[in-house]
Amino acid sequence: MQVALGCQILVLVIMFSRWSNSHNQENDSLQHESKVKELRAALGPLSGRSLKYCTDACLRRYLEARNWNVDKSKKMLEETLKWRSTYKPEEICWHEVTVEGETGKVYRANFHDRHGRTVLILRPGRQNTTSLDNQLRHLVYLIENAILNLPEGQEQMAWLIDFTGWTLSTSVPIKSAHDTISILQNHYPERLAMAFLYNPPRIFEAFWKIVKYFLDAKTFQKVKFVYPKNKDSVELMRSYFDEENLPTEFGGKAMLEYNHEEFSKQMIQDDIKSANLWGFDDKLQSVGNGHSGPEIATEPVCLAPLAS
Ligand SMILES: *[C@@H]1O[C@H](CO)[C@@H](O)[C@H](O)[C@H]1NC(C)=O
Ligand SMILES: *[C@@H]1O[C@H](CO)[C@@H](O)[C@H](O)[C@H]1NC(C)=O
Repeated sequence: MQVALGCQILVLVIMFSRWSNSHNQENDSLQHESKVKELRAALGPLSGRSLKYCTDACLRRYLEARNWNVDKSKKMLEETLKWRSTYKPEEICWHEVTVEGETGKVYRANFHDRHGRTVLILRPGRQNTTSLDNQLRHLVYLIENAILNLPEGQEQMAWLIDFTGWTLSTSVPIKSAHDTISILQNHYPERLAMAFLYNPPRIFEAFWKIVKYFLDAKTFQKVKFVYPKNKDSVELMRSYFDEENLPTEFGGKAMLEYNHEEFSKQMIQDDIKSANLWGFDDKLQSVGNGHSGPEIATEPVCLAPLAS
């Protein structure tokens, strides 16, 4: 048991440290812009969704994650393009993963933080499914959804992780944690701005303080431990969030009530938005009757199973 718990914590720590492994470099925006051009040239001609994925901002994130080394960034980005072409994260529809979301274990909050970042709420204690593949697909769906809902000029999200009710028995096996981590760190670099761990077992923080010596300061700053009825925690949370939005669980004033039906409605709308964005709405339309307007015609493939 001791060993298992240690591994769990280690996994957690690696997940956060690597996923947001950025280095504070000297400010050299001109040099960075030329690196972006260099990387784009090195990638060669792109088409379709790869072209859409590889915006300048995207290239910058991969460069940042690889310390502005063009070769390494290229390799990393190509791995992602390969992964995206097979896993097709942008094509996951809500109806495929909705079962995973019934308890509200992971969902997108209806508010942003003070920097305009999308907020994902994770409640690992509410895990009640067993298929690791489906759990991962659900998480990937929500990360894609968080990105889809970023305001102009903001590229990152914040995670509020509520450990209330979390025990070893609800924790994920190491292999699944490893798969999750590698996807997050390899394919979503520089997307996590902050992770707030609410009410975690105290040993997490003790462990994190030790690990600190192996991490750069910027990464270390991205993970915050937050405890109920703790004055510092409340102040910290209020510096990042408007307390009117923030659920009471996290020290704010809002009621946190996950309503699966309401959330599903939003996600169905977002599926249409996503299909339009990635340009497979025509594929969806082809199964429609072809006579209805574009709004209606985009629905069938993703939504049919839900309607039943
Ligand atoms: C970097 O330098 C540029 C131009 O000198 C400036 O506009 C920008 O705000 C700086 N960025 C940071 C993060 O300091
Ligand atoms: C998980 O919990 C939800 C909500 O309580 C329930 O509807 C669903 O059937 C549960 N799923 C499993 C696989 O037990």
